[in-house]
Amino acid sequence: LTITPFIANLPKVELHVHIEGTLTPSLRWDLSRRNNIPLPYTTFSELQASYAVTLNHRPELNGRQPGIPTFLEAYFAGCEVLRTETDFYDLAMAYLRRCASMNVRYTEPFFDLQAHTRRGIPAAAVMDGYLRAQHDAAAQLGVHSRWILCFLRDEPVEQGLDAYREARPWAAGTVDGGKGLFHAVGLASNAYERPPMLFEEGFALARADGLHVTMHCDFGQKDTREHVAEAIFEVCGGKGAERIDHGLDAEDCEELWRGLVDRGIGLTLCPHAYHRRTATEVLFPKIRRLVETGVKVCINSDDPTLMHDVWIDGNLQKVYTYCGFSRREMVQLVRNAVDMCWAEEDIKRAIY
Ligand code: HPA
Ligand code: ZN
Repeated sequence: LTITPFIANLPKVELHVHIEGTLTPSLRWDLSRRNNIPLPYTTFSELQASYAVTLNHRPELNGRQPGIPTFLEAYFAGCEVLRTETDFYDLAMAYLRRCASMNVRYTEPFFDLQAHTRRGIPAAAVMDGYLRAQHDAAAQLGVHSRWILCFLRDEPVEQGLDAYREARPWAAGTVDGGKGLFHAVGLASNAYERPPMLFEEGFALARADGLHVTMHCDFGQKDTREHVAEAIFEVCGGKGAERIDHGLDAEDCEELWRGLVDRGIGLTLCPHAYHRRTATEVLFPKIRRLVETGVKVCINSDDPTLMHDVWIDGNLQKVYTYCGFSRREMVQLVRNAVDMCWAEEDIKRAIY
């Protein structure tokens, strides 16, 4: 996948990327040595090779092959090497430096606090590391970020509420003395039989603190349309989420895409994540039709190091090539991300 100069030079905004899904094999290798944590691979090239075989995440098929981890198993296994504030700082700075190299000016990364606290890592190590990277990247690279705390939807709701309460001092919005790391909450991990409405209390807590609310409704999974319907019409006391992450299944359901248009709810799409398991001639016309119905969409990477190293520029390149969008339409997709983002006005104006 060759990135053309037009795509490379576009000023970009990324609104759907999991920071843990940007951990490169080489940083994982270095952290395993630094922290003395053995990996189930004896050489770096074995570790690297393991990234090529990660299965697509298909919980509805209970789709495991013996010895081959599911997507989310690989994702959480990667987290094992992250232990100290410095580790989280290094992870975040590596991504933010990559942003600078791709002309990503502003980003809203997801982070899974529970993935670390449930392993006994102090919440402060995670969020202080990200906070320091947030400041350093803004000052040194001009890459600004506002982060999104995700509830792990396959963990008990109460565990997520506890994580939120613990994270509150790092929030922005109206939280007194908040450190300003994260400005929103999201919903991630395995959606199997875990609809958004289960987390209504968490969304209410965040909204009461002045934070934004988004949630994953993964493409092509069991009950996705029901999840999208809840995200549009039911959550947040019936007001709906402010954005939906993925949500591509709304394309062939008029009630859903009309709901998105009427309520001004945008979708953060990750084309390569779907392209891994969807035919080109099915996927890209779907994205094109969704754009033509007037739903606001933007293009993102999701978990680039676990998805064949395709980053936001590669995802933009794919829709440019396979949707047949004009340059003007590509610029509009990036403007959509600016409209959908939760940056201050001066940062938005500096991008477009
Ligand atoms: N799906 C759901 N949750 C996630 C993913 C994903 O692909 N990546 C990181 N968290
Ligand atoms: Zn995602």
